[in-house]
Amino acid sequence: MLTVKNIHQYYGGSHILRDVSFTATLGKVTVLLGRNGVGKTTLLKSLMGLVPIKSGSIEFDGQPIQKQTPYERARAGMGFVPQGREIFARLTVEENLRMGLAYKSGSTPIPAELFELFPILKQFMNRRGGDLSGGQQQQLAIARALAPKPKLLILDEPTEGIQPSIIKDIGRVIRMLADRGDMAIVLCEQYYDFAQELADDYLVMERGEVIARGLGKDMEANGVRQLVAI
Ligand SMILES: Nc1ncnc2c1ncn2[C@@H]1O[C@H](COP(=O)(O)OP(=O)(O)O)[C@@H](O)[C@H]1O
Ligand SMILES: [Mg+2]
Repeated sequence: MLTVKNIHQYYGGSHILRDVSFTATLGKVTVLLGRNGVGKTTLLKSLMGLVPIKSGSIEFDGQPIQKQTPYERARAGMGFVPQGREIFARLTVEENLRMGLAYKSGSTPIPAELFELFPILKQFMNRRGGDLSGGQQQQLAIARALAPKPKLLILDEPTEGIQPSIIKDIGRVIRMLADRGDMAIVLCEQYYDFAQELADDYLVMERGEVIARGLGKDMEANGVRQLVAI
């Protein structure tokens, strides 16, 4: 679904991403691990077109997309859950979900399935986003990304600052979405146990480079826990 080849990216003079390549496959969770500041968010933003890449290619659903705008990429079926959630605090839950449908026709309904995945959102439909707990906001951010039915879902540290019970719920939803087989998932994480439980494939970044990769089931044996230990 997603093939990334030899990406290089710079912020000013600093070389942030160095020759990063990987793929994400339908029905699988590809986990991206790495300590703070190694370039995970920069990589995910590059995939979405939110930061420009200097060289390399990004193919999504069989098409080269590295020249497309973030809007075009979203429209093509790439969904993004940004680090820190970035929900609209002054808009209601319902309005936030509608933002996820902004590039669909005005009459596109919010898929009822989102409320099965995250029942709390139905209950809090008319509350302002800013009045939700961190975990509820994260669920809202995921639901907003899912609203237009993406073929690729990219999540940037969804467990950051969230209580354990909601982390479990989010993990269950991610597994279920992948197991349906019609979506590829790229999950960036620093929380090793959560990442390991969900990973079908993993990659580890350090200083902008991929330094290790393999199958999720081999993560422990391959010493990934030590590689990302803080
Ligand atoms: N907008 C920016 N301008 C300049 N440097 C940045 C910017 N955003 C991030 N960086 C730098 O790029 C590097 C990678 O950051 P980031 O991608 O956020 O890492 P991670 O998500 O792995 O913590 C860090 O050294 C960070 O300081
Ligand atoms: Mg980050």
